[in-house]
This record gives sequence, structure tokens and C-alpha cells, in this order.
Amino acid sequence: MSSDIPGSGSAISQYPDVPAIEQRLHRLVHSPLHALPPDALARYRAWFEQHAAGSRALAAEAEQFIPGGVQHNLALGEPWPLAVSGADGAYLTDVDGNQYIDFLQAGGPTVLGSNYGPVREKVIELLAACGPVTGMLHEYEVKLAKLIHDFMPAVQRFRMLGSGTEGVMAAVRAARAYTGNAHVIKIGGAYHGWSDQVVYGLRIPGTGTLEATGIPAGALERTHELAPGDTDALAALLEKLAEDGGTAAVIVEPVGPESGTYPAPHGYNAAVRELCDRHGALLVFDEVVTGFRLGMGGAQGYYGLVPDLTVFGKCVAGGYPAAGGVGGRRDVMDVFAGGLTAAGKRVFVGGTLSANPLSCAAGYHALLEMDRTGAPAKAGAAGDRLRAGLDALITARDLPYVTYNFGSIVHLHTSGVLHLCLDDPDFFTELNPRLDALGHMSMAFAAEGVITLAGSRIYTSMADTDEVVDQALAAFDRVFAQAQAQA
Ligand SMILES: Cc1ncc(COP(=O)(O)O)c(C=O)c1O
Repeated sequence: MSSDIPGSGSAISQYPDVPAIEQRLHRLVHSPLHALPPDALARYRAWFEQHAAGSRALAAEAEQFIPGGVQHNLALGEPWPLAVSGADGAYLTDVDGNQYIDFLQAGGPTVLGSNYGPVREKVIELLAACGPVTGMLHEYEVKLAKLIHDFMPAVQRFRMLGSGTEGVMAAVRAARAYTGNAHVIKIGGAYHGWSDQVVYGLRIPGTGTLEATGIPAGALERTHELAPGDTDALAALLEKLAEDGGTAAVIVEPVGPESGTYPAPHGYNAAVRELCDRHGALLVFDEVVTGFRLGMGGAQGYYGLVPDLTVFGKCVAGGYPAAGGVGGRRDVMDVFAGGLTAAGKRVFVGGTLSANPLSCAAGYHALLEMDRTGAPAKAGAAGDRLRAGLDALITARDLPYVTYNFGSIVHLHTSGVLHLCLDDPDFFTELNPRLDALGHMSMAFAAEGVITLAGSRIYTSMADTDEVVDQALAAFDRVFAQAQAQA
């Protein structure tokens, strides 16, 4: 299944057995909650009180000036957000001097590990030479676009923007302009950034406009959500929309919504490709997380598929700021070609600091280093070791938890909250206890020295040696032991 693009071969050594995982997730959701008992929670809270007072003070100050006390949900944490002062390779250090294994990895981009020295040095060189931005063309813009094309041949042209959100906005607009069609189809549960047209069906499939506060209904009139993995429903919807303005784009995260929280069967993307071709819709791969993490060819290299457009984020600037963009077929991407006389003909995108030399230099050198070192495969091997270890712990303790991985994207579901089904009569009674249990797990993992993404997702990096993974497994097991004792 691997492509022959350098570095892309083995970032996923084994594809998850999706039907078996779905069965286990179903069982998890329908099993009694195996949560941490009150005495364990009290001990973990006491740990924070004794060891994380500096974070607590900063978090209290942040609450006065920052809505909700954090600038991004990734930083949320119980009993309060941890304030980080150092990041290096596999580890984070907080303002109180505690060290943690970093399985958040900034939300995914740092496949080389945090604050990777050789990239940092190139960024410092660039800053010394011309500062972060001039507004003029810079050699690194060209180098980065060309390098992305080398790794992902389907990206014939690349428009660098400031974030994944902007990449999705641009992709949707380009797809509408190019096809002349109106509708956009996304998959329930998937996050494609926060632009008006895609804040729909977030986190839990079927939730539609639940999170669309402040967005006029008209902005979402032509956005549709489908159940993960359901290609029959996609075929039917494409058919129906053909009579009503047609579909401009089907946008998917190739491994499934939320980095595979709802894992996509292996053949899913190929089926979506075929359906898009049949109905004249563009296939957009959102590779904000998978791009370069699943190999230098991204998910498209792994599945051996050619999307019409690819959305990039995070990784494209190697974890440095202003990271995003869209790339793809030359004829589609040319709708962005502009100039001052192009009014009325081009698709308008912009961003004064988009494609600044700093982001492009960071992205270029990060991608080169990832390819040179084989970082995606090394991070994937760490993900494999971690997932196998977690599976063994879960089995040994007879817990209903579910773990699986797409290489360096590891899922660990302990409460099943994300897999509750809206149609289930118990949905509203189960939601809060399961959400709380997940928050408690996340807190316990942190107190035991491991930072995860909200307690249920883990990004490994090249810096995660066997020793780091084994250290993490010991920490997870100390938490699992207490949940087992409770059951
Ligand atoms: C799959 C996916 N698409 C889009 C985005 C939005 O990217 P950004 O946060 O850079 O706007 C994210 C962010 O987490 C993402 O995971």
C-alpha cells in the first residue's frame, strides 16, 4: 500500500482493522464507565496543588484577560491549564519545572520532535538575514512549493496561507468557482477549521449546526454532513444535489474525522474518489494533520490516490507560525492566479503575512529534515510500540478501553464520549459523565508525566525512542490500575 515517494513507505506499518475497532468502540460505549475513583482524583488534584502552583497563578491571571483563560482549546486542562516554558524533543517543561512526555506535539506538526535544532538554526539564519517578512517574493516560497510538489506530485501549484482554516476556505471557494457547483459535503465529526461554511457537524456526527453560534443560516445552507464511512449515503446525496446546483467539493480527512477518531476503512477514500469523478465534484483531502506525518507523500501517497485539492496546515511550516495553504491540480489552482487587473475573474484570497519567509524557511527545512531522517516512519514506529503496549495493558487489566493507530496518530478511548450516538436514547444521560471521565483521565496522565491531546489522542514524533515510549506506558499503567480498582 505504500507509495515509492521517499520517506513515505512505512509510516503506517499496519492499517487498523476498522470493523473490529468499531465493534470494540461500540462495546466501550455500552459498558459501564471505567473512570477514576474519587480518591484517585483527589490524589491527582493534590499533585497539581503541590507541584503546579506557577501554572495555577498564570492561569488565574490569564482568565482575567483571555476569554476562557486559553487562546486555543488544545491548552485546556484540569484542574487548570499547564503553562509551558520549555520544549525539547520528546519533552515539555512547565513553569514549575515539571517535565512531561509531549504527546500533544503542538497538535501534530512537530514530527521531528519539539523545537528541533537544525530547523531552528535555519530560522535564526533567515531572521538575521531579512527578518520575518518583507512583502516581496522570497526564494524560500518557491523552494517550499517545489518541495511539496516533489513529495506530493498531485500538488502542482501551492498557495501558502496562514492556517488550515484559511486553506479550507480557499479550497471551498476555488471548488465552487471552478466547477460552478454550489454544495459542499463534509463528514460528520470532522473539524476543518472555523470558517462559516464548515462549522457543521463538529465532534459528534449528526450535530449539524449545534456549534454554529454566530453564523448566519445562509452560510451553511449548502453544507451537508454525512455519517463517517457511509459511501452509499454519499452516492445518494451526490445524486440528489445534482438536481439542485451540483456539488462543488467533497472534503474528507483521509484517515477519518478528527484524525481517525472515526476511522475510515481502507477502501473508503478510493470509493469517494470514484463518486466525485462520477458527479463532477472535486475531492478535497484535508491533510492538515496527515500531510507529511503519514509519510512525505501524506495520506494521498499512502492510499495511492490523487485528490483534486489538498489542504495543508501545521506541518507545512514545521510547527512554526502561519502554517497553512491549499494545493492541487494546475487548472483548478489557476483560479487563484491574480494580479491587479484580474477583478471578476479570479478567486480572491489574501493575507499580508501569508507565505512570509520565516514560515517558508521553517517549512522547507523541516520537510527536508523529515525526509532525510525518515522522521514519519520513526514516529510511526513509536506509535506502533505505544499502541501495542497500551493494548497489552488494557487486556491485562481487563478494561474496555480501545486503542489503535495510524502510524504516529494514536487513539486511546477510555470513556467513549466521542462515540456516543445521537440517536441513542441514553445520549444525554451518558454525555456529561463520560465527558468528565475523559477530562479526569487527561489530568491523571498529566500528573503522571504524560501530556496527551484531550486525553484521547496521542501524536508521536521521531524523538520518541523506545525508552520514552516505555516510560509513557508505565505512566499510563499507573492510571489504568486505579480505574481497574474502581471497576
Ligand atoms: C483536520 C484539520 N483541518 C483543519 C484544521 C484547522 O487548522 P488551523 O488550526 O491551522 O486553522 C485542523 C486543526 O486542528 C485540523 O485538524
